[in-house]
Amino acid sequence: MKDTVVNNGRNLQFSRRAFVTGGAGLALTAAFPFAPAMASRLHEFSITAAPGRARLAGGKQPETDVWSYNGKVPGPEIRVPQGERLRVKVTNELKEETTVHWHGLRVPNPMDGVPDLTQKPIAPGETFVYEFDVPDAGTHWYHPHQRGIEQVDRGLYGALIVEEREPIKVDRDIVWVLDDWRLLKDAQISDDFGDFRDISHNGRIGNTVTINGRIPGAFGVRSGERIRLRLINTANARIFRLGFASHKPKIISLDGQPVEPHDPPDGTIVLGPAMRADILLDMTAKPGERFSVTDDFYKGFEYRLADIAYGPEPLRDRAPDAPARLAANTMPEPDLNAAERHEIRFNGGMMGGMMMGGGRGSGGGMMNMMRGGKVWLINGVAATGHVMDPLITLERGRSFILAMQNDTAWHHPIHLHGHSFRVVSRGGRATKRREWQDTVLMAPRERVEIAFVADNPGDWLFHCHILEHMAGGMMGVIRVT
Ligand code: C2O
Ligand code: CU
Repeated sequence: MKDTVVNNGRNLQFSRRAFVTGGAGLALTAAFPFAPAMASRLHEFSITAAPGRARLAGGKQPETDVWSYNGKVPGPEIRVPQGERLRVKVTNELKEETTVHWHGLRVPNPMDGVPDLTQKPIAPGETFVYEFDVPDAGTHWYHPHQRGIEQVDRGLYGALIVEEREPIKVDRDIVWVLDDWRLLKDAQISDDFGDFRDISHNGRIGNTVTINGRIPGAFGVRSGERIRLRLINTANARIFRLGFASHKPKIISLDGQPVEPHDPPDGTIVLGPAMRADILLDMTAKPGERFSVTDDFYKGFEYRLADIAYGPEPLRDRAPDAPARLAANTMPEPDLNAAERHEIRFNGGMMGGMMMGGGRGSGGGMMNMMRGGKVWLINGVAATGHVMDPLITLERGRSFILAMQNDTAWHHPIHLHGHSFRVVSRGGRATKRREWQDTVLMAPRERVEIAFVADNPGDWLFHCHILEHMAGGMMGVIRVT
């Protein structure tokens, strides 16, 4: 049988096999909500988390000590066709426990990679095998869920691409894994993880931005080319707003979920931590021209991320006008009329030098929380670990609306595990595309409503993906029974 694992010309430096599973594999899936209709092919990967070195800064700069999967930052790109089965053997060669979370994939709860909540963490020297079906296509990623403020920051993450059964036509399919690093003069990572100022303000923002583990230089393109660019924000805290000069990116997918192809407002792509966007970039300029990709999210800290450099030879006169709409994924449609509503409030953090309370801990309680580095609350509670009483318990199979209120002075990318949700309103107004997301960026004081069918049983983490905010308590559990 032909090996259908597509590597898009990449040299995959890790073991890869694909074969058809028999009845034994299927018996396992029967209990899961997304059981495949037919025997699915199994795609096997092995990743090892270990200390290593990476040439992030380039030029004459020394290599940086990192923690990485299979010795690379980002870790190996995992690609699997939609509807098939993934098995990843994870070996921990770090000096501390770890887990792997498959961000954006709707996996069975025991495969979700949340320490203590869904599995025993993987001890140093141990291995753990994750195995699950992949019902939906899309751009996702994987990362540890143990001490993310250091493990993810030091370089443990990788892209996970689920390929459509019928891909849209493009000339190149390119992944940009975006990250930032807080590097010292010797190109080493500053080890002030969990700094109180970072936790209580906008998280650990680095001083060096990389694409696919490198400070980017020129990105070579050709006139008339159509590129599908998959953007993944793996930074602990940095929010990006990318501009492509005179080019007009078309968004075709958000958080791995197809969306009606559209031009974003003012032509920029905003990505909070953990968020993804697939865009179509038509190369409309002339051979030899050069443009900058810029990031201007933080006022006063705008910078040039990379250059787009047109080669001397055009590919064709103009980019093809092929359809850009991706086939829908398999999430059940929430029934907004019948949906049960729950209010979720986010409080805490600093404003004008004051802690913003709103929880049970005001006065002396608040001081104690601050001393413990717990400064963020969901519905009045600051999480102290991954295991806790659920914020809410949802009946399996029913539709729910979470009405979320950001009562803080900061942005928060709010992520729900195990499900994708529709973003149905912002600031009290219905959204135009009701986009499916798994991480929604809330502006300061913003109110956002999300809706979904709670079809995946288990205890699911619900948290801010600014990893310092999560460490500072902005995390809860949503139980589906
Ligand atoms: Cu990207 Cu709870 O994770
Ligand atoms: Cu946050």
